[in-house]
Amino acid sequence: MDVVTTKEMLREQLADWRHHSDHIALVPTMGNLHDGHLELIKLARQHAERVVVSVFVNPTQFGDGEDYDDYPRTLELDRRRLKRAKADLLFAPEVDVLYPFGVDTATSVTVPVLTGEFCGESRPGHFDGVTTVVARLFSLVQPDVAIFGQKDYQQLMIVKRLVEDMSLPIEIVAAPTQREDDGLAMSSRNQYLSEDERRSAPVLYAALQDIARALESGAHDYGDLEERASEALRAAGFEPEYVSIRRAETLDPPDRETDELVVLAAAQLGKARLIDNVLVHV
Ligand code: PAJ
Repeated sequence: MDVVTTKEMLREQLADWRHHSDHIALVPTMGNLHDGHLELIKLARQHAERVVVSVFVNPTQFGDGEDYDDYPRTLELDRRRLKRAKADLLFAPEVDVLYPFGVDTATSVTVPVLTGEFCGESRPGHFDGVTTVVARLFSLVQPDVAIFGQKDYQQLMIVKRLVEDMSLPIEIVAAPTQREDDGLAMSSRNQYLSEDERRSAPVLYAALQDIARALESGAHDYGDLEERASEALRAAGFEPEYVSIRRAETLDPPDRETDELVVLAAAQLGKARLIDNVLVHV
């Protein structure tokens, strides 16, 4: 597996593959790869002959006071994991490669819907940063398919919207959330948890599952279900940011007829901000 850090090296490799009519899958990441990321790579393999993984801690999606400086950067470990996972290329650019005019004056890509609520409310500008970097990666790699995790459900919806709205010829494939044995969604941020917090962390998924079960058995008291889940989280030491039952397709509030739902939650546990969601078919 090759590692490239510049646009020129990347383009050279991509041109060679395209010359052989290979399809190209892109898996965008911020590195510090765990088994959740590796599932995305497996899925990418099923969709294309060549798999490019980008590792880039994107400054524009971190707000002031967030963990940009502390975000775990483990490129050598990532490289070894990617080699074992049989990725074809690791693209690991420096900031000035993706933002040649600097971060502050960078052309920004904004999706005006889906971005203000939930994670967008507590992290203003976060999704602009995500779509700005994803658009750059798409335009550099020009993949046939790109893989995103369902764990970041709102992000997945926003990226789908970007692609559809801009008519980008890229298929967006969603990868199911990978979890630890106790249900905690895998995340690079789990390592911010203390031992005690780590023991409480699965309560987030458990609370979502409780809501899912209630919905499946016909409950429609969405507000009550959300409030009860928030209480369960507070009792376990979390500070819930939101717990919300929405339409899976649009993230709009559901009505009694909605049969595809998503239950989304974010909560702070110690230093870690954890997010999770479950899809519910009723
Ligand atoms: P990052 O948090 O590194 O995640 C990279 C990809 O892995 C995302 O699509 C995310 O949804 C997926 N992922 C993370 N944990 C997962 C899990 N437990 N199960 C399944 N998929 C999982 O998301 C980002 O980076 C960035 O915002 C990025 C899209 C790279 C733009 O900078």
